[in-house]
Amino acid sequence: MSLAITLASVPQGEPTLADFGQIDEIIAEPGPGELRVRVLYLSLDPYMRGVMSGRHMGHSVTLGSVLPGAVVGVVEVSHDARFSAGDFVQCEGGWREIIIVRAEQAVKIDPTLAPISTYLGVLGMPGLTAYAGLCYLADPRPGQTVVVSAAVGPVGSTVGQIAKILGCRAVGIAGGAAKCNHLITQFGFDEAVDYKRDDFAQRLAAACPNSIDVYFDNVGGAVLEACIGRLALHAKIILCGLIDQYNKDQRPPGPNLGPVIGARATMKGLVVYDHFDKLDEYRRTASGWIKAGKLRYLEDVTVGLANAPAAFCKLMRGENFGKSLVQLQVP
Ligand SMILES: NC(=O)c1ccc[n+]([C@@H]2O[C@H](COP(=O)([O-])OP(=O)(O)OC[C@H]3O[C@@H](n4cnc5c(N)ncnc54)[C@H](OP(=O)(O)O)[C@@H]3O)[C@@H](O)[C@H]2O)c1
Repeated sequence: MSLAITLASVPQGEPTLADFGQIDEIIAEPGPGELRVRVLYLSLDPYMRGVMSGRHMGHSVTLGSVLPGAVVGVVEVSHDARFSAGDFVQCEGGWREIIIVRAEQAVKIDPTLAPISTYLGVLGMPGLTAYAGLCYLADPRPGQTVVVSAAVGPVGSTVGQIAKILGCRAVGIAGGAAKCNHLITQFGFDEAVDYKRDDFAQRLAAACPNSIDVYFDNVGGAVLEACIGRLALHAKIILCGLIDQYNKDQRPPGPNLGPVIGARATMKGLVVYDHFDKLDEYRRTASGWIKAGKLRYLEDVTVGLANAPAAFCKLMRGENFGKSLVQLQVP
């Protein structure tokens, strides 16, 4: 038997524990071409809130079904010549302790590049989002000011640190003094601005005396509006995420985009699915940066699949501190 977490009800506003259910799944023997994988880490990501409401472009879940999600695990039984017991793999397994997966849907991962949990964070989909959005869409020049929101998260912290590696000034926006302090002392941002303070607009202006050349937006709403008001001539905005809206049933009124026109700025929508051809290139580059101490990562690890719903609720309240992961087993 294997524990799995299901969608019990569609959340109204912030998700609560009542929105999640539990089932015990009977695990069949893997068939030809299949693997049995024991999950070591489950990734918790903001997009899952949209999945729970039926508003996501790539994933869906019905009431009573197991929630989808990316996992890293270890192969226990392989009926495919390309995998052996003991291999570490990454795949879409869902909120489960044990999964049966077709071999072609699992990707072998190399634990010598970086710890295996990072394949769900800095070396995974969030890291690639940061790399593709910053290096391919924004393409900033040395000396330019790059501002990113949700800056302590896996996307934002990677954006800021790659900006530094490219010779830019990195300004992070995050909620609360502890997160802002972490941006400066651990991730090496030049400035950190707390958007929850009443004087946010003045502090943002002080942190960006030469205006904003690249704004990498992870949240939307009032933070996007404040950054739009500080754009440099020919600035670029990368629209990556709108977490400010994910818990809201009605889309709030949009920001005033007039200054985007005045600044001749370019806004580009970022969908990480378009950039998976760069994943190997990114992993090679980023693992070098990690080993050289230039790219750090932060993980917020909850132990035990039964605690995944509480950890997801915490993520959607903005209380996670770094890449949100559930550890099911000690690797
Ligand atoms: N376009 C794509 O292909 C793509 C791919 C991956 C991720 N994304 C998006 O990128 C963004 C960051 O993702 P991530 O994985 O790095 O997540 P994350 O930073 O771990 O996400 C949670 C953080 O968002 C911040 N936040 C800001 N406003 C919030 C609000 N109203 N409610 C709750 N949290 C709020 C919170 O930090 P503070 O306390 O600092 O506010 C919270 O800790 C998300 O919007 C995600 O959907 C987009």
